Amino acid sequence: MKTTLSIIKADVGSYCGHQRCHAKLMEAANGVLKEAKESGVLIDYYIGRCGDDMDLVMTHDKGEGNEQVHKTAWNAFVSATEEAKKLKLYGAGQDLLSDAFSGNVKGMGPGCAEIEMEERKSEPVVCFLMDKTDPGAFNLPVYKMFADPFNTAGLVIDPNMRGGFKFEVYDIYENKRVILNTPEELYDLLALVGSTSKYVIKRVYPGPGNKVPEDEPAAAVSTDKLHQIAGEYVGKDDPVAIVRGQSGLPAVGEIVEPYSFPHLVAGWMRGSHVGPVYPCSMDKSDPTRFDGPPRIVALGFQLAEGNLVGPNDVFADPAFDRARRESLAAADYMRRHGPFQPHRLPPADMEYTSMPKVMEKLRERFKPVE
Ligand code: 13P
Ligand code: 13P
Ligand code: MG
Ligand code: MG
Repeated sequence: MKTTLSIIKADVGSYCGHQRCHAKLMEAANGVLKEAKESGVLIDYYIGRCGDDMDLVMTHDKGEGNEQVHKTAWNAFVSATEEAKKLKLYGAGQDLLSDAFSGNVKGMGPGCAEIEMEERKSEPVVCFLMDKTDPGAFNLPVYKMFADPFNTAGLVIDPNMRGGFKFEVYDIYENKRVILNTPEELYDLLALVGSTSKYVIKRVYPGPGNKVPEDEPAAAVSTDKLHQIAGEYVGKDDPVAIVRGQSGLPAVGEIVEPYSFPHLVAGWMRGSHVGPVYPCSMDKSDPTRFDGPPRIVALGFQLAEGNLVGPNDVFADPAFDRARRESLAAADYMRRHGPFQPHRLPPADMEYTSMPKVMEKLRERFKPVE
């Protein structure tokens, strides 16, 4: 039997403003997922959150993109939305872009990362949950995990990893994808994924000679772009990712090591600013200051015949205190730019903009420069 690990997430309402997913929403979702487990649709599940986003971590034997599993997640979000409406929470139902489910959550608002795998003798997985940023925020850390020997010692000293890793990169504007092999094509990979608003790492596969089969992803990232789907601002596409660890893959310590550096990402206030990520435990994930700084939570599990053993709330570890302090210092520095770039995002990447209205008002007053 193959196990599929699916994280499907959505923001269906929060308090106050865009800070926290309410416990009643998680209870409502739990009712739906519990029933799905009892009826055999799911093997196991865990409901997490990062800030205002609810993250359904689910295991099953039905493969990626399965209608029953996706419908279960959709129903959980619909049920949570009903609670959110009763409580008049902020943005109740904001990520459910349609009234009716049609086979798969893709393109309907929720974000989704899935991996189908043959469970190994021991199968450690880390589920990363983010709030107030976009999928490009995973480019730098995922690159480091699987391609940077200064981060991942195993690339140098574990013979299993000598074949490197293959990165599947999406061009999210052209809707195209390319696979790049590392270490051979490292510079080409960086040329693309350094542009975090256009190119995003979707999956990483083991290279030749790895113990893990080459067609089984070692990592998967959600890449759903809400503002493109709806054509207008409906909430940022706060992403999630799954990364498998150990025995030919990066050790769990190497998977979380990139977050010792709180890199700058797009998102934060109104989805329109650049700010540092803030690695934190789930209970510290409410983005308050200027609706941020952008949060990341890491939940570590072991899979056992599809059962989720855990989670370990990784960034609760004080070893990440220094990264948090550095993140707060960077947040102060960026905030002092106010409405100026590079704190404010370039016009094309802003989720909120008054630019068309400003331009309309000033159109007549613009004169050619002699
Ligand atoms: P494995 O090769 O068993 O993954 O061990 C590496 C390790 O755990 C180093 O921290
Ligand atoms: P969310 O995408 O997390 O709902 O945040 C939206 C926002 O505008 C924050 O300022
Ligand atoms: Mg919100
Ligand atoms: Mg959010």
